[in-house]
Amino acid sequence: MKFTLYWDNLSINGFIVTMTMWTPDLAAYSGPLYLRLANAIEHAIGQGELAGGSRLPTQRALADRLGVTVGTITRAYAEAERRGWLTARVGDGTWVRSEEEATASDWPLREEQDGRIELWQNLPVPLDRAAKVGPLLQQIERDGSLNRLLGYDNEAGRPEQRDVFLQWLGSHGIAATHDRFLFSNGAQHGILLTLLATGCVGEHIACESLSYPGLLGAARQLRCQVSAVAMDDEGMRPDALEALCRQRRPRLIYLTPTLQNPTTAIMGEARRRELLAVCARHEVWVVEDDVNGLLPATRFTPMVSLMPERVIHLGSLAKIACGGLRLGFLLCPTSLRPALGQAMRLSSWMVSPLLVELAARLVQQGQLTALLEEQRQALARRGELLAHLLPQARWQPGAMHAWLALPAPWRCSEFVMAADRMGVGVTSGELFAASQQATVQAVRLSISQPASDARLGEGLARLKALLASLPPSQLLL
Ligand SMILES: Cc1ncc(COP(=O)(O)O)c(C=O)c1O
Repeated sequence: MKFTLYWDNLSINGFIVTMTMWTPDLAAYSGPLYLRLANAIEHAIGQGELAGGSRLPTQRALADRLGVTVGTITRAYAEAERRGWLTARVGDGTWVRSEEEATASDWPLREEQDGRIELWQNLPVPLDRAAKVGPLLQQIERDGSLNRLLGYDNEAGRPEQRDVFLQWLGSHGIAATHDRFLFSNGAQHGILLTLLATGCVGEHIACESLSYPGLLGAARQLRCQVSAVAMDDEGMRPDALEALCRQRRPRLIYLTPTLQNPTTAIMGEARRRELLAVCARHEVWVVEDDVNGLLPATRFTPMVSLMPERVIHLGSLAKIACGGLRLGFLLCPTSLRPALGQAMRLSSWMVSPLLVELAARLVQQGQLTALLEEQRQALARRGELLAHLLPQARWQPGAMHAWLALPAPWRCSEFVMAADRMGVGVTSGELFAASQQATVQAVRLSISQPASDARLGEGLARLKALLASLPPSQLLL
C-alpha cells in the first residue's frame, strides 16, 4: 500500500523536516469554501494525487496554508467523510480511506467462529425457515405465476397482495386501506422513503436521545439536523418534546414505541397519546417504527391507530421471520401517499414482485404466524437464560436485545474491547447516541443472535465473569 503523509513540518529526533503539504487550488471550484475543498479532496483522490491510506494535513495547518478558518476545514473534512472518501480517527487525524476500507462493508456479517460468540446484531433467532419457505417457492414455480412475477409491477404491488397484508394487519388490530399502504424493501428503506417524502432533507428532525443507528445514519446522509429528546423508562418524554417543539419546531419525530432499540422501553397508551397530542399541536409528522411490534404476545394500541392522519407506521418481516426477504411496509396518511410512491419509484421502482408474492403466501398459508410463534418461544427461553445469568440487564418479553448498564468503574469502550478479547461481540451504547455530547456507559446485547441457547449461555457467562473483574485501566493504577 502506498503510504504518504501530507504534513507540513515533521520533527524527527529534534530536526524539523519540511515535507510537501497537499495544497488544493480552491479557485478552480465554485460554491461555498468548504464545498470547494470537499470537491478538491474528491478530485485529488480520483486523480491519485491523494493516495488511499494517507494522512491529510492537520486542520490548523491546512487552514493556515489556504488562508481560511479551521471551521471551514472541519466542515470540508466532515463532508468528504460523509461521501465516503475520508475516515477520522480519534486522536490520530484524518485519513484517506484505503482501498480495503472503501470496499469492506461497515457492517460485516460476522459468523460465529473460533469460539467467538456474537451478541451485537438484532437478527431473528436462527430457526429452520427454509422448511417453511422452500415449499412456497416450489408452489410459485408449479402454478405458472413465475413469469408474471419476474416482470415489472407498479410501485404499490398487486391489489391482491396488498389485500393479504391489509387483512393480516387487521388481524393484529391495525385497520388500514389500500390508499394508505405501500410495500418497502425492509423498514430501513421505509425510514429513507419517509424522510424523503416528508421533505426532511437538510431539515430538523427529532428522536429519543438513544435511537436506532439506521435512523441516525440515514439522517446524516440526508444532512438532517437531529435533536436528541430526553427519555425515561417509557421512551421519549412529552415535556421534553414540548420544550423542543416550542424552541425549534422539528419536521418529524422518530419513535420505536414497542421494544425500543436499544433500551427495550415500551410506551404505555397514555404516553403514546401524550406524545401525539404534542405533535398535533405543533404539526409534526410522527414515524412509528414498529419492527418489533409483534414480538411481544400482547401490545398497546399502535400510534397509527390513534392518529392515522399524522403517523407513518413502519413494519417489516425481518425481525419476526426472515430479514433476507427484505419485505417491509408503510401505512401512511393519504396525503403523503403520492410523495411516498414517488420516493419508491425513484429509489427502486418497486419491491420485487417475487418476494412480495412469497411473503403474501407465507401470510396466507399461516407460515408467518408459525414463524412468529417460534420466535416468541425462542426469545422467551433466551430471556430466562439472561434473567438467570445477568439479571441486571434490562429485557422485556419479546425483545431480541437487552440493555446492560455498566457498573462503575467500567466504561463502555473498555468493556466492549475487553468482551471482544474474551471472544464476545457486543454493541457499544455510544452507537445509539443521537447527540455527540451524550456519554453512554451501557452496551446492547442481542440475545437472539447466537446459533443456539447454549452458545448464548456461554457468552453471557463470559460477560458475567468480566463484570466481576476490574477493568484493565484500573489494574494499571
Ligand atoms: C428499530 C429498527 N428499525 C428498523 C430496522 C431495520 O429493519 P429492516 O431489516 O426491515 O430494514 C431495525 C433493524 O435492526 C431496527 O432495529
